[in-house]
Amino acid sequence: MTVEINRKELFNEFALGVQERGKGRVERESDYLIKIQLEEEEFDTLKINVLQFLSARIFGEDYSITSEDEIIDLLQGDPKDEFLTSSGLILPKRQSCLEFNLVILSFYKILQRYLSVYGWYEILPLRVKTNRSSNKSASIRNSSMPHLDSWTGFSDRAYVCFLPLLGDIERNTIKFWNPIVDIDEKWHDFNTSDSQANNIVENYYERLNTCLQAGYLYVAESSVVHATEVQGDATARISIDQLFLPEWTRKQGLGIQDVKRYNDFITVDRYESFPHEYIYDFHDSHSVRRPTNGLCSPVGRKKLPLSNQFELAA
Ligand SMILES: [Fe+2]
Repeated sequence: MTVEINRKELFNEFALGVQERGKGRVERESDYLIKIQLEEEEFDTLKINVLQFLSARIFGEDYSITSEDEIIDLLQGDPKDEFLTSSGLILPKRQSCLEFNLVILSFYKILQRYLSVYGWYEILPLRVKTNRSSNKSASIRNSSMPHLDSWTGFSDRAYVCFLPLLGDIERNTIKFWNPIVDIDEKWHDFNTSDSQANNIVENYYERLNTCLQAGYLYVAESSVVHATEVQGDATARISIDQLFLPEWTRKQGLGIQDVKRYNDFITVDRYESFPHEYIYDFHDSHSVRRPTNGLCSPVGRKKLPLSNQFELAA
């Protein structure tokens, strides 16, 4: 059984709210996709925080200033360290957890500034994509295949935002497909097979000309098909691809499909005390993982009360 919602109208209302907050920096790419030009300062702050985190994460306690080119070169090689999951998620460790908290802080500040959000899925999905990523992925859906995220267990009402940050954004990119007919709720069925998926994309979608650009945040409705596209000679790209539930789902619910990732969902209200009351502490071991319906997400984290930190430091 499916529940009808007017996706076009709901996304339109959401986009109007973003346009109001973004004051002339928001463009409509389609009925279901918008892009926001971030202010230089907020984008640069996030970028510097990401570079700082990656430097600490890769080089450990001996790290010093590292350039974007150096980081990209290292990630483009085949790092032996187990800090990348098979799908390219960059996992923090205890020695880099303060830096990672800064990345979390600057990213969610951007989200809360422009988007009307009910909640999002933890933990922050900072990823590296290389031309090797798709071969190694243990994900139940390969991100290089055109797909909907509801097919990997996320709510069919979750919007997704894409924020390319560093590296070869031009040749290592994301492509989007827009529905050309009224959206059929059945497209979001978690049990959609690969051949059904191909059928849906071929018959009811058209590819958009949207090209990823640095400094822009892209926000897509759940029904926008997307895929990673890496040209043969492209180098690594680092980006954040975050799923979130728009504010209207607070009243209307997360959708009736069995949401496999519910345990990773956090509401903005619960997030409000970060970082005033606590920050995240990440364990050194990522051997413990929470199975999320065929996928694994790192769970080596706990909340560390900030007041204790100060007491300990005194
Ligand atoms: Fe996706």
